[in-house]
Amino acid sequence: MVKICCIGAGYVGGPTMAVIALKCPEIEVAVVDIAAPRINAWNSEQLPIYEPGLDDVVKQCRGKNLFFSTDVERHVCEADIVFVSVNTPTKTRGLGAGKAADLTYWESAARMIADVSKSSKIVVEKSTVPVKTAEAIEKILTHNSKGINFQILSNPEFLAEGTAIDDLFKPDRVLIGGRETPEGAKAVKALKDVYAHWVPEDRIICTNLWSAELSKLAANAFLAQRISSVNSMSALCEATGADVTQVSHAVGKDTRIGSKFLNASVGFGGSCFQKDILNLVYICECNGLPEVAHYWKQVILMNDYQKTRFVNRVVASMFNTVSNKKIAILGFAFKKDTGDTRETPAIDVCKGLLGDKAQLSIYDPQVSEDQIRKDLSMNKFDWDHPAHLQPSSPTAIKQLSVVWDAYEATKDAHAVCLLTEWDEFRNLDYQRIFDNMQKPAFIFDGRNVMDAEKLRSIGFIVYSIGKPLDAWLKDMPAVA
Ligand code: NAD
Ligand code: UDX
Repeated sequence: MVKICCIGAGYVGGPTMAVIALKCPEIEVAVVDIAAPRINAWNSEQLPIYEPGLDDVVKQCRGKNLFFSTDVERHVCEADIVFVSVNTPTKTRGLGAGKAADLTYWESAARMIADVSKSSKIVVEKSTVPVKTAEAIEKILTHNSKGINFQILSNPEFLAEGTAIDDLFKPDRVLIGGRETPEGAKAVKALKDVYAHWVPEDRIICTNLWSAELSKLAANAFLAQRISSVNSMSALCEATGADVTQVSHAVGKDTRIGSKFLNASVGFGGSCFQKDILNLVYICECNGLPEVAHYWKQVILMNDYQKTRFVNRVVASMFNTVSNKKIAILGFAFKKDTGDTRETPAIDVCKGLLGDKAQLSIYDPQVSEDQIRKDLSMNKFDWDHPAHLQPSSPTAIKQLSVVWDAYEATKDAHAVCLLTEWDEFRNLDYQRIFDNMQKPAFIFDGRNVMDAEKLRSIGFIVYSIGKPLDAWLKDMPAVA
């Protein structure tokens, strides 16, 4: 029986390994983590992450061929294939701070693998890492290996949160990079055989190590670039009277461009896009390519601009002051169908409004009060460290309440900001909401999911990203 161990029981390690266990009943899969509460949650009825379809997959294999454990060393020692899916945060201090990937967790995992291994292993980079990380890891392993053979593979993960299980069941592609040596080819084949249990062969791409590592950063940069491109157009649409939904529909109909990932929004969030692009920018700088670095940096700057633009629009529309005004925030997660708040645009929007002295009332169906308070008091990039290293008691923010109902959040509010496109926000009783709000009542739709005409007929002043502005908004221009 082949044994797999995955170090890191997070958003990637947990779902990915659960699907491998489901699709490969003859393989024993152990997912290990240093964070005991996380492992306890994986072994409980309340999994540590919310992901549609995940509970079902875990229930089918947990205790049979899928195990969650804090006994990291034992499971690594027993495994034939070790996936490493630990955090690779942005460095906050020292050389490359604010850009470079912090490989502290990766390196400590690699040293531990070298320490405890008594037999040859395939070590798989599942985390997103800078190009050439495999070389560094190889050095750590071989210099500490006591003669044991390690083959390093790069197998970046492309799942998106909220659709992780579908993405894992039917991936567009699985990418495996390995050394171009007979031993490297053998290791690639061993991992390919695992995926071949359910992924058609023509969807398994094999490359050299550096191409696989770079392709992951490139894919995220391309995806984020589309969003920043359409968001830049959204600003121009508002200035000219064009409608960004119509523009992106017309542009996306060109089969060379395609229609996906062209939804204008308050900005992209999530744990990957910003971190990976910053990482790419840093790699370009280190390789003497400042023009390339500058090009990709713009994707982030445009995203920051979009969030600032949204806050400015809210404040400017409401007579240039939101001081002591109650503003309802609907949605805090970085997208629908996840409770994940890492780099959610809601953090910057809320901080911007709090900075202008607004009173916020936040509702998200999947995000806890504790998480929201932590997010709003944490320093930039600090979120991407194992939970036990994060601040346990967030500073109290008096201007903030977190409620468990959209009607409660909007009661007596001057404005509603919709920041996550949860389906339930489409079907709220907006007449009831309007009746219970201060007047004039504003709605700022950061996701373009609301029926603006219907809301206007109720009496709301409505702002939708990239849509023609109504007379009120035109009279209150926002300077970004
Ligand atoms: P995560 O924070 O959810 O999980 C990482 C886990 O690793 C944590 O539970 C942490 O406690 C654990 N860990 C850290 N150091 C450890 C060690 N030495 N030993 C054992 N456990 C350790 O992170 P994630 O979202 O799963 O991301 C993991 C990697 O995958 C990152 O490199 C990320 O960029 C990449 N990635 C993430 C996504 C996504 O959608 N979240 C998608 C593709 C790739
Ligand atoms: C992303 C990549 O899609 C995935 O392949 C990679 O493995 C991890 O990073 P994720 O961050 O989970 O996945 O979600 P994604 O669906 O890509 O959305 C990222 C952000 O972009 C969200 O805030 C989303 O709301 C936003 N977005 C997405 C837009 O604003 N407009 C769009 O058209 C699409």
